[in-house]
Amino acid sequence: MQDFDLHIRTRLLFGQNKERKFYEHVASLGKKIFLVIGGGSVKRLGYLDRVTRGLEGQGCELLLFEGIEPNPLAGTINRATAQLREFKGEVVLALGGGSAMDAAKAIAGLAVTDDEDIWPYTLGGDKMGRMTSALPIACIPTTAATASEVTPHSVVSNPDVRGKSPLSYPFFQPTFSWLNPEFTLELPPATTRDGASDILSHVFENYLLGGNRSPLADRYSEGIIATVVETLPLVIAEPDNYELRARLLWASNLALNGYQHAGREASGFILHAIEHAISGFYHNIAHGRGLATLYPAYFRWLWKNDRCRDRLAQLGDRVFGIDKDDVSYASLAFINRFEEWLQNNDLFQSLSDLGVDEADFEAIADYTIATYGFGKPMQARGELNRDDIVEILKM
Ligand code: NZQ
Ligand code: ZN
Repeated sequence: MQDFDLHIRTRLLFGQNKERKFYEHVASLGKKIFLVIGGGSVKRLGYLDRVTRGLEGQGCELLLFEGIEPNPLAGTINRATAQLREFKGEVVLALGGGSAMDAAKAIAGLAVTDDEDIWPYTLGGDKMGRMTSALPIACIPTTAATASEVTPHSVVSNPDVRGKSPLSYPFFQPTFSWLNPEFTLELPPATTRDGASDILSHVFENYLLGGNRSPLADRYSEGIIATVVETLPLVIAEPDNYELRARLLWASNLALNGYQHAGREASGFILHAIEHAISGFYHNIAHGRGLATLYPAYFRWLWKNDRCRDRLAQLGDRVFGIDKDDVSYASLAFINRFEEWLQNNDLFQSLSDLGVDEADFEAIADYTIATYGFGKPMQARGELNRDDIVEILKM
């Protein structure tokens, strides 16, 4: 196995009966809570009232910031940070999907700098890596998707430069997170599907590119993939089933907590780099939907260039029971089966279906290389350059 450095920080409370404990923990971090939510779904569904009452019951004072957009914008994060400073908030709490959670992290970090703009701190910016701390962060995820409630990442968009870029610090890992499947029961089918696609991507990325030195990481990742493949159609058929929603929510957390690739070689997150570039250009594209659109082309591009066929074949064997004696056949059979699964789950579409103009492909590829490759080709068991990205986008 490869050496690794895995920073575990977040205390996770899982389930509908962990509510009171969570509020006690959050209150122990500070009494002035800056509460960050998205565009209003948590208000409409009554989750906001419930959480507000719970925290007030612990003697907390809350200031609500509402209006974090899907794919959160730097300008919104900057405005929220100004309000938090005025309020003198001690803790930043997110109640929402990855967008609300990512915004909460960025706000918590920006608040302790002397700056007013988050964008220069993102990957490729001139203040990248320069944050030294953040206010304490707590999260209540309402989507089963990003695992932001446990990751060190925040992803920020900036329409002024058609950009979308992450910033990552160990202190962005929340101190406490409460994963309550009840808060995912009302997720619309499309958002549920997008989330499942994102979960899969988090295990696919390094599974394919990180080599085979950590058989345990392989089994762990395959367990997540098989769980999502099986559970998504069941959840769509029975959306208010707590147990099924719980499975997806836990799978989402496990898929990006760091364990999923511990012991393998480090590798780039190629699908994420390209998808973030696409969403940067087209702000209305949901992250998981963009990823789902890329899977078939990316997998086929890898296959065509004779990369990772062994890994694709192993997935075929372990997830779909495809005989892998003939690696070339089995790897292609996995891609076909997975594409079929995407089709059956309304996750199969082209970039033009999403409104992406082919005229932007070259600029999207250039942005991907400039920001995520630092101006150099990325590594996908061999080089992957801007022309390769254009080819994948065309496919
Ligand atoms: O804004 P509201 O009104 O809350 O509606 C949201 C939004 O329209 C809605 N929603 C959320 N919870 C709901 C709900 N609707 C009904 N019931 C609920 N319980 O769902 C829509 C999508 O929400 P969003 O937070 O944008 O989705 P998601 O959780 O997929 O987060 C996506 C963002 O996370 C980033 C993505 O790039 C994207 O910006 N990621 C963050 C990562 C991280 N921090 O580690 C890793 C990921 O790879 C990803 O890049
Ligand atoms: Zn993702």
